[in-house]
Amino acid sequence: MLDYPEYTRLLYLVNENIEGFMPDTDINSAPLAESMRYSLRAGGKRVRPVLLLAACELAGGDTMEAVPYACAVEYVHTYSLIHDDLPAMDDDDMRRGKPSNHKEYGEAGAILAGDGLLSAAFEAMLTDMQMYFDKPEMLKRRVRAAYEIAKASGSRGMVAGQMADIEAEGKDISPEMLEYIQVNKTAALIRAAVVAGGYIGGADEELIYSLASYGENLGLAFQIVDDILDVTGDENEIGKATGHDATKNKATYPLIHGLDESTRRLKDLTREAIDRISAYERNTDFFAEIARELSARTR
Ligand code: IPE
Ligand code: IPE
Ligand code: MG
Ligand code: MG
Ligand code: MG
Repeated sequence: MLDYPEYTRLLYLVNENIEGFMPDTDINSAPLAESMRYSLRAGGKRVRPVLLLAACELAGGDTMEAVPYACAVEYVHTYSLIHDDLPAMDDDDMRRGKPSNHKEYGEAGAILAGDGLLSAAFEAMLTDMQMYFDKPEMLKRRVRAAYEIAKASGSRGMVAGQMADIEAEGKDISPEMLEYIQVNKTAALIRAAVVAGGYIGGADEELIYSLASYGENLGLAFQIVDDILDVTGDENEIGKATGHDATKNKATYPLIHGLDESTRRLKDLTREAIDRISAYERNTDFFAEIARELSARTR
């Protein structure tokens, strides 16, 4: 899974550069940097940055130019996982096959590593933008990309979804509320990654629209698989505890709709994602392939 050449090529670009956007550290900030690096290095599928690079390429851009934004999205995502695992949130001890950040560095260390990664993401993008002051068109693309990422990360996206997710714990929530949670906590950042890549590559409005619809559908499908894997997955393979959603009474797709309906919706969303991107007349095979692979993922 996710080991076909196209994915591996972009994954390599991400992994080669992922630590390159860590702010310089000195002896005093070294412990913080270590905690940030621990989670960055723990691995992870790197789905969001790979999608960002692929979208840049689809739009006709040079993937190298999109690398700071791809890594920025992975920094934001990694921070969200560190905070998600904290005792005050999901209270998970395993992440990416290793002890969660707070198990290694303590709660304060984990909170601050998350804060550091989020800030480093914006530093990476703004550092890149400073190279384009005399190229307004190129600068505009980058500002748009960073804006999408900012919007999707915060209280109009991931953070709002996380808040609603915590509030929903142990409650009887409506299908609409579940949709709100999943769209925000997960789909928003995936959509933003795809759209940001499109902007940097110089996508026209039509392509941005296709990318956004693809990202929304794929993003929601992604969280449904995550929820299904918590029920049916193998802990060793996914690198995090299973059965935890049920124990904590989390609002998940299988809990509200059952496993069969979860699988059905997953199929629909995957098909919809592929249809939306295929509407654009270029070679979108990579996007169809990744949507199929992610719907069948086991980690
Ligand atoms: C896990 O994301 C959290 C969700 C938003 C569902 P990933 O499944 O992308 O986690 P990593 O990055 O591969 O560890
Ligand atoms: C997390 O959803 C979404 C985030 C924004 C981090 P989950 O809480 O289901 O993710 P996992 O299962 O811990 O990776
Ligand atoms: Mg959570
Ligand atoms: Mg969690
Ligand atoms: Mg989960």
